[in-house]
Amino acid sequence: MDIKAIVLAAGKGTRMKSETPKVLHEIYGKTLLGYVLDSVNGITNENFVIVGHHAQEVEKFVEKNYANTRSVLQSPQLGTGHAVSMAAPMLENYEGLVLVLCGDTPLITAETLQKFIDFHKSSNSDLTLMSTIFDDPTNYGRIIRNPDNSVKCIVEEKDATDEQKSIKEVNAGIYCLDWKKVKNAFSQLTSNNAQGEYYLTDIIEWGKKNSLSVNAFILEDNEEIYGINSRLNLAQAFKYMTKRVLTKLMLNGVTITDPESTWISPDTEIGQDTVIFPSTYIEGRNKIGRNCKIGPCAHLRGDVEIADNVKIGNFVEVKKAKIDSNTNVGHLSYIGDSELGAHVNIGAGTITANYDPLSKTKSKTWLKNHVKVGSNSVLVAPVTVEEGANLGAGTIVTKNIPAWSLALTRSPLKIFSDWVKAKLS
Ligand code: UD1
Ligand code: MG
Repeated sequence: MDIKAIVLAAGKGTRMKSETPKVLHEIYGKTLLGYVLDSVNGITNENFVIVGHHAQEVEKFVEKNYANTRSVLQSPQLGTGHAVSMAAPMLENYEGLVLVLCGDTPLITAETLQKFIDFHKSSNSDLTLMSTIFDDPTNYGRIIRNPDNSVKCIVEEKDATDEQKSIKEVNAGIYCLDWKKVKNAFSQLTSNNAQGEYYLTDIIEWGKKNSLSVNAFILEDNEEIYGINSRLNLAQAFKYMTKRVLTKLMLNGVTITDPESTWISPDTEIGQDTVIFPSTYIEGRNKIGRNCKIGPCAHLRGDVEIADNVKIGNFVEVKKAKIDSNTNVGHLSYIGDSELGAHVNIGAGTITANYDPLSKTKSKTWLKNHVKVGSNSVLVAPVTVEEGANLGAGTIVTKNIPAWSLALTRSPLKIFSDWVKAKLS
């Protein structure tokens, strides 16, 4: 069955206190909205993002990164129900399922969304909501159930009685709708509530009244719907995500010597028996092979591809680079926009000078197999060092170096005998 998603992202995000739209705040270099869209993308064939505040920036992000996703403007923002209705004209003759979710819950996984849809289908549901249990349910909509345990309605915190507020089952804000059956609800919602908004949550009661099959899928791991409203939430989500990533890596055979001081993005693949030493920070999309040693204090900034048996040592920064097997970048180096062959050795303090601040362009460095770079060398890109060439310590490479040659930039060392003694006497 056809599945499309509507992602709500028009809200103001006031509590972030930021010039950046809330859903474009980042965790490991990827936006909150990016996480949500990546999770739905394996499941849906088309998505709509409802934009409002800072609409242009969010639209631009969507257009640049997600070909199957369209932005739909909601202005003014009259509530979550109103937000979903903005996509209705695009879905007029649509007969499949619609997944509705929020752009500020980056921890939701594709696996959970798939389970949610499977549940919707197997329970012959017309309208399924996701709920979860929180010890502290403050601020969430509460799930009100009938004596027979079926879902009756959702009551928002601001509309809830004290008794309702004590309910710990809350609305996760994720729904699966049989669009043909539910779409009429959106023209019938009212804003007769404490916030004067058109609540999406009211479709539950509407569904019950219109004899639809309404069910709740209870999410066990409530961390997955953790929503970002403030910088404190952002930091907490970062922690949850890191823990999830490190746990998975360790279970897959990667040694993380100190998980408390290691940070690895969810889009990083790492092979078995690789060891990640403390204070290592890895963001963006990367692939690291088997039996590598990374860190301590290494910084991988994304688009890094490392083959097997590679060593990236302390205070080494790597960005947009391909490093072949058995290569060592041991200490205090910067490798950016580069391709390193196999069995390359990079001496301490080597820099690939990849950026020209005048033209604002980046250029590439190629170091072929068996190249040895002496300490404190600078490779001024674009430049190629052919196979087996050696660079002496302190070499500034401004032209291509032929294979198996030695290159040096060195003024002669002068020695003045007894110079110090003479000064002291
Ligand atoms: C909503 C739910 C609540 C649920 C909670 C889960 C409603 C009425 N309440 O509350 O039951 O427990 O999510 O996190 O739906 N948005 C728009 N346009 C609008 C208003 C909001 O696009 O006009 C977007 C926001 O950007 C956000 C999402 O909808 O991504 C949720 O809105 P928010 O105001 O955060 O709803 P909550 O009060 O959290
Ligand atoms: Mg709200």
